[in-house]
Amino acid sequence: MIDQKFYKRLEEYIEGLTDKKDDKKILEFVMEEIGYIPKEVQAFIAEKTGLFPFTIKGTIDFYPKFKETLERTGPKVVKVCVGMGCSGRGSAKLLKRMEELMGIEVDETTEDGRFSLGTQRCFGKCAIGPNIYVDDTGYHRVEEEDLPRILEEEGF
Ligand code: FES
Repeated sequence: MIDQKFYKRLEEYIEGLTDKKDDKKILEFVMEEIGYIPKEVQAFIAEKTGLFPFTIKGTIDFYPKFKETLERTGPKVVKVCVGMGCSGRGSAKLLKRMEELMGIEVDETTEDGRFSLGTQRCFGKCAIGPNIYVDDTGYHRVEEEDLPRILEEEGF
């Protein structure tokens, strides 16, 4: 269920645009605010801009960064391996840095509900550790300086 305050902000954002039909900008705003673009929001944008719904849908399909879902699919889960193998290669430091970068602690979810942070006791890939998984995507031999890039790739 989308918050009415969000619609108010969206409406104000559209009104503040020089080009009120700039659906790419509008969709970027929606992604920043709620992390996905549900059908009801597309319909709202169509109504406020006078654009055809299929035009908006076309823009969503064209840019991979726009994600359309009917419901929030739940947060992406970042899991840092804290098993023996990865710990021996410095995963505790990675976890601490990840907490700083994400602004949350282990087992917490970001305020916008898009990301949560957890740990795992071995992914069975100790030889290529330290390992971090973001949902099903594995990052191996991770070093501290890789963390900002990983988060960026995952759309954090
Ligand atoms: S301890 Fe990390 S993958 Fe095994």
